[in-house]
Amino acid sequence: MVISSLQAILAHIWTAVVRSRSCLNDNYDESQELAVALLMNNRTKVIPPLPETFFGNAVSWRIVTLKEGELIKRGLGFLAWLLKDVVNSHNFENSRSFVESYMKDPFIYSDGNMLIARGSHRFNMYGNDFGQTGKFYGKTTVNPGPVEGSIDIDICLPMEVFKAMDAHFMEAFSR
Ligand SMILES: *[C@@H]1O[C@H](CO)[C@@H](O)[C@H](O)[C@H]1NC(C)=O
Repeated sequence: MVISSLQAILAHIWTAVVRSRSCLNDNYDESQELAVALLMNNRTKVIPPLPETFFGNAVSWRIVTLKEGELIKRGLGFLAWLLKDVVNSHNFENSRSFVESYMKDPFIYSDGNMLIARGSHRFNMYGNDFGQTGKFYGKTTVNPGPVEGSIDIDICLPMEVFKAMDAHFMEAFSR
């Protein structure tokens, strides 16, 4: 099965974020755990399914955790593969067991320990005046860009992390 362009782009950006952070910190801990999460439409996944036109948020959380050191060592292909798995294993049972375990044992990730993507290819961002949503470290929003077929990416990071994003990261954009 192929990795989608969205999975590849997210993997590229998030790997660069982690690499950048590791360079900034002299006492960087490779065994630091990172949660990577996708918020995914669950209209057709819930039982019974909701109509595609259902108004409101209908999203499942899917989270995977990994060791930052492993990501730095193995690179973006490793993360892209994990993201693909997250998407492919999005079903009612998995989402439901996540919700149930969360109810029993709720958690909050501290700043920067979770990178999370949200957004929708169906959201006409440039056709709406919708204002801003909340910002937090690692929040990544993907929506259609202004040009047909393009993707708009909005990611919240501390300035120093942006500044330390390396040439390797920029290379992908200069073609
Ligand atoms: C589906 O989405 C709704 C609304 O966001 C959420 O409350 C519910 O937990 C989700 N269902 C599953 C099984 O993830």
